[in-house]
Amino acid sequence: WSQTAVKADGVLSVGGVPLPELVREHGSPAYVLDEADFRARAGAFRDAFAAYDVYYAGKAFLSTTVARWLEEEGLSLDVCSGGELTVAERAGFPMAKVGFHGNNKTLGELERAVELGVGRIIVDSFHEIERLAAVTTELGRTTGVMVRVTAGVEAHTHEYIATAHEDQKFGFSIASGDALEAVRRVHAAPGLRLLGLHSHIGSQIFDTSGFEVAARRVLALHARVGEELGVEMPEMDLGGGFGIAYTTQDDPSDPSRLATEITTIVEHECRALGVAEPRLSIEPGRAIVGPAMCTVYEVGTVKEVALDGGARRSYVSVDGGMSDNIRTALYDADYSATIASRDSGASPTLSRVVGKHCEAGDIVVKDEFLPGDVRPGDLVAVPGTGAYCRSMASNYNHALRPPVIGVRDGKTFTVLRRETVADLLATDVGVS
Ligand code: LLP
Repeated sequence: WSQTAVKADGVLSVGGVPLPELVREHGSPAYVLDEADFRARAGAFRDAFAAYDVYYAGKAFLSTTVARWLEEEGLSLDVCSGGELTVAERAGFPMAKVGFHGNNKTLGELERAVELGVGRIIVDSFHEIERLAAVTTELGRTTGVMVRVTAGVEAHTHEYIATAHEDQKFGFSIASGDALEAVRRVHAAPGLRLLGLHSHIGSQIFDTSGFEVAARRVLALHARVGEELGVEMPEMDLGGGFGIAYTTQDDPSDPSRLATEITTIVEHECRALGVAEPRLSIEPGRAIVGPAMCTVYEVGTVKEVALDGGARRSYVSVDGGMSDNIRTALYDADYSATIASRDSGASPTLSRVVGKHCEAGDIVVKDEFLPGDVRPGDLVAVPGTGAYCRSMASNYNHALRPPVIGVRDGKTFTVLRRETVADLLATDVGVS
């Protein structure tokens, strides 16, 4: 939950706004974004990593409003597509503080990034190095470049979001020698300014030993580049991936503890290797926006089914589902839920919060104990939906993507409006 979420007489308020009131004004379902909480988490990373640059990973959730908050809080921004870059541009975000990621950026995206003067482009393949070098020559410009490397560690997370082992699509392998070769080529290209190495080991990670091993291997390569090419690279990025608590079982990442751990390793390794410390940066996304949002839904139907062994489960159907939160279906993610609109003395019943899509895997919350008297019209709130829910939302079954409603000091404001049928039909050229 975000820090301003409080329940009184069964009614959940966020940012001083009771959710039933928010739904009366803006409809349901809706994502609710707690501005104070977002800013506090962004600020906590900024302060804990005061000697670093903190790049917020826009893929977790991005809008022009959020980009402005980030600028005000002194953060930088990581984008990974032309679309995210356009949002940053539209928000007037300083381009020198933008990093551009992606394993297959298009020629058009690279040209745009160079033209806009994006601070760093993180290259991910030999083809891209060649393409980017050609773009800078053609435009008569230079650009800062980081080389994405694969440290060869197994991050303890879902396999779809682990990125530091060898057999996956991102980065240049350190072990195979590709990473060193990539650095050589970037260094040799006149339009490319070699800034440093970049490593991102995966997402929703709690065990910091993966970061430790990665940092050691990346620093060893950093030192080797110094020896072999005589180049002291000024920067290094250790990526994002810091885990958040989705249920009471998880222990959220603590920015200051992370900062201490990472700084200690880097200082120690640099001393051991006899190299100057590069300026570090990190890229948290989920850990900033994840807890700052919740989703509020309205219950439409409730159904009880018998389980093997005689137990029963209540299927609570809400007015959204896998189109606004695909994470449960895609990663088997755990979420929790609570009734946000009233008190109930009914006994807790094993419940599953499901959506309205035509698919049995359309589950929002797998297992939760909700009051046994949940009924149509009740509001259900699911916390921790700020990261990778709206940004991965779809129009499956021609669903309209919900709005993101900001809350602060008892007031609401629209960050992203609800989609309309007109939005839905806008690409259907058969409509007369
Ligand atoms: N930097 C790079 C290069 C990344 O690829 C990512 C995430 C991040 C930073 C931010 O990671 P975070 O701090 O947010 O964990 N859709 C998945 C997560 C995919 C993450 C992709 N890259 C999910 O919903 O769990």
